Amino acid sequence: MTKIKNIVVLTGAGISAESGIKTFRDTGGLWEDYPVEQVATPQGYAADPDLVHRFYNARRKDLKTVKPNPAHEALARLEKGLIEKGGYMTLITQNVDDLHERGGSENIIHMHGELTSQWCTACQHKFYSQGEFTPKSICPKCDVAGKIRPDIVWFGEMPYRMDTIELAVMNCELFVSIGTSGAVYPAAGYVQMARSLGKQTLEINLERSEGSHHFHETRQGKAGKLVSVWVDEILNG
Ligand code: APR
Repeated sequence: MTKIKNIVVLTGAGISAESGIKTFRDTGGLWEDYPVEQVATPQGYAADPDLVHRFYNARRKDLKTVKPNPAHEALARLEKGLIEKGGYMTLITQNVDDLHERGGSENIIHMHGELTSQWCTACQHKFYSQGEFTPKSICPKCDVAGKIRPDIVWFGEMPYRMDTIELAVMNCELFVSIGTSGAVYPAAGYVQMARSLGKQTLEINLERSEGSHHFHETRQGKAGKLVSVWVDEILNG
């Protein structure tokens, strides 16, 4: 994998695990304590918006106690290094935390939304906040109460910026997946798209994922160490 200049990286909850953010499907993961259908579907939100706001308020509060780990920082280093070599990197994350931003990455696509973004469904205004919300919260733009929802893509909803993601996969030389179980589509299908277009593919994950067999190479272990090693290989290659 030498002299590769155009890379797409897809990340999942595993890259933030060493920062102290719970993954979803591992033992002790978030979906063990919180039924997905209650806190991560439009139907769950309609049934109990107070529960859903409290769930995301807690996740947002957690952000204040964590910091980026060496894997986030290595990806920021890779982005800068590739640009210096006349290349390009697109970072697609399924994560709703802000650790890639705080780790120094710039070209980030949050395909499943962001904890620090709120969405007023009355006027469509989206705004940044680290605060707490309730079913009675008022939109800072239109002043309507009760229409603010977390700007999170729930199950059954369309992920963000799919066109941009597909273009990036089409134009890359190497597609790399880090810290994701490969259980949720469309993200889980990007490796197959990349392969069908003749791209190189690499997976870095703690254990074999549901999609491991689609990759040319799988490296098993903690992202904090393996991502830095791989980034050095690319930048020194
Ligand atoms: N380093 C690398 N990989 C790790 C680490 C680590 N330190 N810790 C855990 N992992 C791996 C696990 O082995 C697992 O395969 O990260 C993966 C996390 O998988 P999930 O919990 O399923 O998270 P993710 O793939 O991001 O979930 C996708 O599902 O619930 C939805 O919207 C949510 O974006 C999320 C999507």
